[in-house]
Amino acid sequence: MKRLSTICIFLATLLLPLQVSLAQPRRLSADFPKWAGVADTPQMGWSSWNCFMTDINEDLIKATADAMVQLGLVDAGYVYLNLDDGWHGERDENGFVHEDPVKFPSGMKALADYLHARGLKLGIYSDAGNFTCACYTGSLGHEYQDAIAYAHWGVDYLKYDWCFTNNVNPKGAYTLMRNALGRAGRPILFSICEWGISKPWEWAADIGHSWRTTGDIGPAFLPVETSYDENGRRRWKPQSVLEIIDKNEPLRQYAGPGHWNDPDMLEVGNSITVDGVYYEMTDSEDRAHFTIWCMMAAPLILGNDLTKITDETLAIIKNKEMIAVDQDPLGVQGLRTINKDGLQYWFKPLVDGDWAFCIMNTSEEDVTLTVDWSALEVNDPVSKRRTSFGSVNYSVKDLWNPEAPVFPTLVKGKGILREQFVINAFDVTVKSHDVVAYRLTPVK
Ligand code: GLA
Repeated sequence: MKRLSTICIFLATLLLPLQVSLAQPRRLSADFPKWAGVADTPQMGWSSWNCFMTDINEDLIKATADAMVQLGLVDAGYVYLNLDDGWHGERDENGFVHEDPVKFPSGMKALADYLHARGLKLGIYSDAGNFTCACYTGSLGHEYQDAIAYAHWGVDYLKYDWCFTNNVNPKGAYTLMRNALGRAGRPILFSICEWGISKPWEWAADIGHSWRTTGDIGPAFLPVETSYDENGRRRWKPQSVLEIIDKNEPLRQYAGPGHWNDPDMLEVGNSITVDGVYYEMTDSEDRAHFTIWCMMAAPLILGNDLTKITDETLAIIKNKEMIAVDQDPLGVQGLRTINKDGLQYWFKPLVDGDWAFCIMNTSEEDVTLTVDWSALEVNDPVSKRRTSFGSVNYSVKDLWNPEAPVFPTLVKGKGILREQFVINAFDVTVKSHDVVAYRLTPVK
């Protein structure tokens, strides 16, 4: 009897917390995890902003979609077609947002259907404040409604900007929209765009799939000097490719599958005039820009007019080998190992022991130099990978010269591979504002 009562007391003690918790009202969690699997590698696509700003409409977007298919860009991986600022119309009496009926007379759902039928995905743009940067309606106070509208239309991507957000807490605002997108039920890639102001790399890995790390890019390779118009007003100036690289490179530890540093969209093949100033890059500058974006595992979002693309631009953005460097499943952002006398040396660890390696020449002169692997050993603290040039043999493929022969390199320690081809150093000329890039593959 005594034994039985001891067991009863014991069981009651065990069940007590259960009874208490059953008596409590169930806690409803408002948190929805960000969508998984939509950005295991950096997103690729096209956006209307860099070239067209708010001057967008249904015909342009459909023509761009057709061009993306015909030029082989969809097959190359550029699947998102993103409307940036300027698509919004008015909110209705219930607060739901609508597209501009003049610019998009068939409606967003029809546009999404058009894109989906061609293997593309629709991206859209909004802002965490009262207005977007171009003063269209923002999502503040309408987050869940907007997410529902996007999901209903068939949107696949949301870029969420940061203008007119006085007193809004960035982590809170982006978490709120993440939850709204989760609640709306359609997988949507969430691209955070607050220009790196509140260091989103420190708090946004569970919130967005990428975060902008800088202000707005323009088609300028070198930093742009501050200038003033005839009324003494300071002109807008873009962030140049080189400035952006300097800001984005030190953040490499924060990037990885599903959460990428975003150094802004590509300017390859684009030119603009803003505040009376014309900006354009040369093909070699475009090639360097594209290469370093691939080395940095950056989202590859084209920003040029695809209906007027040149062969040179197409060859750059369709370079399969470079795209594979960007899209490498290991998802490690590359590192700059040397930055001296106008030369930048970059390495990026890739799957199966491979490495991408490039040299960018930012100086005004062509430079001929010797690549001596024994002086370039990399021990990467982020990926914990090392090149081990002293003991691993690599074959080397020139990524911008597919016709160039693949050559084995550096054989030390492990003996001779094929004597006549084995080299541990070679000379190369890197043209001014241009790049050379290679893929190193261990020879088994
Ligand atoms: C901000 C963003 C840009 C673009 C514009 C649109 O400046 O950083 O990328 O989206 O707004 O107004």
